[in-house]
Amino acid sequence: MFFLDAKSYLIMAQNSSEMLMINKLLNKNNINTDLVPAPPEWGTVCAIAVKISDSDLEKSKNLLELAGIHTAAILEDRKLKLQGLIDRKLGLIVSEQFIGILKKIENGDELHKEDIVYLLATDKKREIDTIFATADRIRKETVGDVVEIRGAIEFSNYCRKNCKYCGIGGKNSEVKRYRMTEDEIMDVVLYLKSIGLRTVILQSGEDLYWSSDKIVSIIKRIKETTGMRITLSVGEKTFEEYEEFKKAGAENFLLKIETTNRDIFKEIHPDDDFDERLQCSKWLKELGYINGSGNIIGLPGQTIQDIAGDILFFRDMGINMIGIGPFIPAKGSPYENYPHGDIALTLRTVAVTRIVCKKVYIPSTTALASLSKDAQVWALNAGANTIMLINTPLEYRSSYNIYDNKNMVDLEAAVYAVEKAANRKLPSYLKVPGLDSDAKLKGGFS
Ligand code: 5AD
Repeated sequence: MFFLDAKSYLIMAQNSSEMLMINKLLNKNNINTDLVPAPPEWGTVCAIAVKISDSDLEKSKNLLELAGIHTAAILEDRKLKLQGLIDRKLGLIVSEQFIGILKKIENGDELHKEDIVYLLATDKKREIDTIFATADRIRKETVGDVVEIRGAIEFSNYCRKNCKYCGIGGKNSEVKRYRMTEDEIMDVVLYLKSIGLRTVILQSGEDLYWSSDKIVSIIKRIKETTGMRITLSVGEKTFEEYEEFKKAGAENFLLKIETTNRDIFKEIHPDDDFDERLQCSKWLKELGYINGSGNIIGLPGQTIQDIAGDILFFRDMGINMIGIGPFIPAKGSPYENYPHGDIALTLRTVAVTRIVCKKVYIPSTTALASLSKDAQVWALNAGANTIMLINTPLEYRSSYNIYDNKNMVDLEAAVYAVEKAANRKLPSYLKVPGLDSDAKLKGGFS
């Protein structure tokens, strides 16, 4: 990776189609680029920045000028430095290798795979506490104290695939299938708007009944009626389809890689191909989506090395949202009798992902909430900064059983988690009916 440790620059485009144009132009002229999340203050222009190395700066500027492209800005990509992670006392308790890793983090240097493996594997309490505290500091410095709240609507549980971990695979005959109508979806969207939420997540199985035209239609209707931001989570599609959804108004897309170990990916996804999944993720990025990925912790055969590989993948792909959840067995699925993933390892993965990927959205996942009431609080204290509410209508909720005992994270649960987490705030846009002033004080509003 040519960017490691060298000075680099970020080209900020006026919008995503210009960003794509710039990227193509530079690549055509043999300039290596990377598409990365834009820094916070520029995220409103175009979410994705084109990263180039120092040595290509002048050539790039000339090419852009010749092509008549006026960028929004070109900025130096600054390292995030953290002072004071190590004190004398700590040096006596933790290992030398751990201190070496902390030094890299203090300097804003990239961690290598062996560092990440060390952080994920350590069982020393003092080291784990320090990892959580470090992740929490980086979370505070990069995305602040507000816990973003999103509303998810699981609008169809039909699925053409049969991922072995998932409870709604097409062949699972124990599942009662449902599809919401556009009107039913709109009712929920209006409710989400009424409680002040700004982003709605539309999630479903890979249901071919929901053709691109139908998806485009609901995107347009949500945009026109509410102006809310839209996150899609509808699986693998063609480039053209992703492009249509983007043009219709969708801004964000969640498509998890689940694992970067190709053998495990193949084993758990009988209908999928790793390279195709990767291609989809790259397309989403190229199209200028805020790009979501993530993994499952505790898949059969998965090692700490695999998880470290996942984290490097998130970093190197410039992923903006990273959903990390423990595996939970699902009734009627091929893995229904497998043990669930480890909460502690999931929390360490959240923390190390924050340390490595820095300015990204990391949800405190529903899967964590499903294993323990307080696990969402722990994740918020270990680097997470988002909560996704499940707003699927009651009559359908229990049929979206991607795993057993799925916790129905509602507004109350989210407020509870934010209030119990250390020094966190609910977003000012949130209108919570009946939230008393005492609760507001404790949770704090931004
Ligand atoms: N355990 C944990 N996570 C699961 N998902 C699906 N099934 C399971 C399971 N049994 C996750 C996948 C998917 C997301 C919507 O839910 O990561 O991307």
